[in-house]
Amino acid sequence: MIRIENLTKYYGSFRALDQINFQVQDGEILGFLGPNGAGKTTTMQIMTSYLAPSEGNIFVDDYNVIEDSFEIRNNLGYLPEHNPLYEDMIVYDFLKFVAKMRKIDDNLIKDRIKEVIEVCGLKRVIHREIGVLSKGYKQRVGLAQAIIHDPSILILDEPTSGLDPNQIAEIRELIKTLGKKKTVLISSHILQEIQATADRMVIINEGKIAADGTLDELMAKFRGDTLLEMELKNADEKKLESISEIDNKIKIVEIDDSKEGAKLKLEYPNTIDPREEIFEFAVNNEWKILEMSRSRTSLEDVFRKLTVEQGGSNEN
Ligand SMILES: Nc1ncnc2c1ncn2[C@@H]1O[C@H](COP(=O)(O)OP(=O)(O)OP(=O)(O)O)[C@@H](O)[C@H]1O
Ligand SMILES: [Mg+2]
Repeated sequence: MIRIENLTKYYGSFRALDQINFQVQDGEILGFLGPNGAGKTTTMQIMTSYLAPSEGNIFVDDYNVIEDSFEIRNNLGYLPEHNPLYEDMIVYDFLKFVAKMRKIDDNLIKDRIKEVIEVCGLKRVIHREIGVLSKGYKQRVGLAQAIIHDPSILILDEPTSGLDPNQIAEIRELIKTLGKKKTVLISSHILQEIQATADRMVIINEGKIAADGTLDELMAKFRGDTLLEMELKNADEKKLESISEIDNKIKIVEIDDSKEGAKLKLEYPNTIDPREEIFEFAVNNEWKILEMSRSRTSLEDVFRKLTVEQGGSNEN
């Protein structure tokens, strides 16, 4: 099990990670989701001992990254963001080079390379130069180098970013296959990516954990809300804001007031149905309702609410 405990990271005076806590269970594929600048790469770089934490620690079983970085790195495969590879090396030679760096026994290297070629589907390109490969194949090479020493943990930083839809599907399949035997932490800023591959997700935003749970748990927690969208005429913004006085469970998500009319988005738990009262409120204020439509909150809305609407990207 991986335990991230009170992890904080400063770059100078800028706090990129602020006391984050979460766990990755053995054998699970955990999605690490967050917008640009949220702190995903920083967390992964601390996990792989590339960076030191400012405060807190990461434990892998009985080891921790501050005192036992060697033991942890030995049991961990890492596919960094943007997958840096030696472009002028032949795929086979590159894998051999990584195997030697990983200190794999000389008489085992051949078998290990054979195995990763098989698992990552590299047979066709094994004698090609890495630089001439398609992005999808480069990513397979990146995954092959990450698993050459057969680690039980895989850290994949945005593994499908920049790939075309076919390549994305192939790499997702490959990750799922690898995830059957390994513990996988996979980061992305795209919800669909995490939904497609992960068993559970942790959402990070501005260096803080915003949510943690299985897809079903997050849906159940946040999806109990109804979204009501209205288009109105003759309504002024101040008065629109008072609509939540009908019931304090009604939250105003968005008010877009323009000359042509006002658009209003309301959210309330699906245990209440205040539509009649809202209609009466509108009539009493002499507003004209052009449209009123209801939908359930989607996981996409949840993600947006937990990230974008809290102040947006952390990129500085
Ligand atoms: N070496 C650095 N020096 C200063 N600030 C940094 C450094 N590396 C990252 N940051 C800042 O720390 C924050 C977190 O960055 P990080 O790369 O961990 O985010 P991320 O979630 O991986 O984002 P992305 O989706 O863009 O890859 C950002 O605001 C980033 O600008
Ligand atoms: Mg990143």
